[in-house]
Amino acid sequence: MTLELVHGVDEFRAACDAVRQQGSLGLVPTMGALHRGHLALVEAAKKLTSAVAVTIFVNPTQFGPNEDFSRYPRTLERDVELCREAGARLVFAPSTEAMYPKGEKTRVHVAGLTEHLCGPRRPDHFDGVATIVSKLFAVAGPCTAVFGRKDYQQLKVIERMARDLLLPITVAGYPTVRDPDGLALSSRNIYLSPEERQRALAIPRALSAAVASFAAGERRVSELLGAAEREIAAVASRIDYVSLVDADELTPLSPEAPVPGRALLAVAAFFASTRLIDNVVLGEDRAPLAGNA
Ligand code: PAJ
Repeated sequence: MTLELVHGVDEFRAACDAVRQQGSLGLVPTMGALHRGHLALVEAAKKLTSAVAVTIFVNPTQFGPNEDFSRYPRTLERDVELCREAGARLVFAPSTEAMYPKGEKTRVHVAGLTEHLCGPRRPDHFDGVATIVSKLFAVAGPCTAVFGRKDYQQLKVIERMARDLLLPITVAGYPTVRDPDGLALSSRNIYLSPEERQRALAIPRALSAAVASFAAGERRVSELLGAAEREIAAVASRIDYVSLVDADELTPLSPEAPVPGRALLAVAAFFASTRLIDNVVLGEDRAPLAGNA
């Protein structure tokens, strides 16, 4: 089956309808600059559905004024080739005008889940994400949409939005894909110098140590957070946050109470001007680095 590249909203809607006449549709929304992490989502979607559509759109409304929208890597031709090799049926690469018609005034806001972690540090970011993803869902129609757990808060926001808005979408999460040295794959890793990349390995090291310590019975918030913070602070240009939160509601855990059997340890840190995020669900995820529990 050949891959079809479409740019228009109506064209994409018709192509998705055509897929559904034969079977089920898988959807993998991305901003392009595709790497093995994205392609793993395509593979996962292929297993769950009859044909997969990848969307490629660098969404302006989810970038802050001082963020990297203008320099975000745009590699459409290569991305389309990778989607073809991965066995996707459709690539939807719309223009900004198509996704944000002139005079548009609507934003989708998911409360609560956006109050902590990246929410306060990136004002409007999750409104931008929820808005564009709801538009993509509206155009694609009923489907199974696959998102990475690398962006755990984003996944939770999208799951809740789809549920709250009664959208005919099944949202599936997929584990974080990493380089052999443990660094989570990200389109932004290309901004890192070799030396910064080396320093960034403190993140998977810290997360792995936390998984090991949790498996060994450590349940004190201060100990788990303190150890992770120290490891990352030693090499990061700046820590944005290191947080332990409820894995479903994303609310901070009480520092006094023991950590429950399942909790999200999430990290955001700068290496020079590059902001990296990563996470593990303690009590659920394996350690990012082999050799740890
Ligand atoms: P982008 O950063 O391109 O990521 C697209 C999808 O790939 C997201 O679901 C993300 O979680 C997933 N992903 C990225 N790196 C991954 C990794 N190392 N392992 C597994 N999955 C990974 O996230 C966005 O784009 C945008 O916010 C989007 C949802 C497309 C809305 O604009």
